[in-house]
Amino acid sequence: MSPSKLIVALDVLTFQEAEEWVERLSPKVDLFKVGSTLFTAAGTPVIEMIRQKNKEVFLDLKFHDIPNTVVGACRAAVRLGVFMLTLHIMGGERVLRESVAAVTEEASQRKLRKSLLLGVTLLTHLGRETLGHLGWDLTGNMEEEVVHLARIASENGLDGVVCSPPEVHSVRQALRQDFLIVVPGIRPLGSPLHDQVRVSQPKEAIEAGADYLVVGRPILESQNPLEMVDLILKEIQ
Ligand code: C5P
Repeated sequence: MSPSKLIVALDVLTFQEAEEWVERLSPKVDLFKVGSTLFTAAGTPVIEMIRQKNKEVFLDLKFHDIPNTVVGACRAAVRLGVFMLTLHIMGGERVLRESVAAVTEEASQRKLRKSLLLGVTLLTHLGRETLGHLGWDLTGNMEEEVVHLARIASENGLDGVVCSPPEVHSVRQALRQDFLIVVPGIRPLGSPLHDQVRVSQPKEAIEAGADYLVVGRPILESQNPLEMVDLILKEIQ
């Protein structure tokens, strides 16, 4: 199955709500993101539920730990049959290399599909001011930093990165064409920003070179979620 470009973020607190959303959106959505909110609340059964409905899972737990621990988490994710998963590029090159090797080995030993491994660059809610406060001297250089992180991800064998809308174009220019770019912080016209800072509309992100768009609240909080999905799909076609 080749999933469409839209990933719906299931940031809900119960298995039941997640199942209702998957059923409701299934006619139009192939890929669902399970992040730390839902995974902490409902665990692996939620992944099995999505898989049983013939839909794909983006396991977005953004692993960030010592190499041995991240490698173990990556192996477990492959066993769950997730389509893609995330880890922080800032974990360092050794974590990236060993995770790539582990995913490949786990899939081949167990004759399972190799999950796609994506590196998280900078979280999309972080603006320059917050980063500055944390001691990151990025004046005028946010994109360069993200491109730098994406290069490290690519050089160490990752399948792609997660980055925010304003950096998509630069990452696409700098990296090989088949390097995947997954983009959250998507806000269709008229949707509230919530806690996101670096946002764009669906069409802009695709035109800039995004492969997949992650959309949560604009769909889950919409008066008519299926209509919102339709609007986004039309924009990105
Ligand atoms: O509700 P909203 O559309 O803002 O959801 C975006 C989703 O993408 C959330 O689940 C969030 O965890 C995720 N995400 C993000 N920024 C990143 C990586 C993932 O917002 N850099």
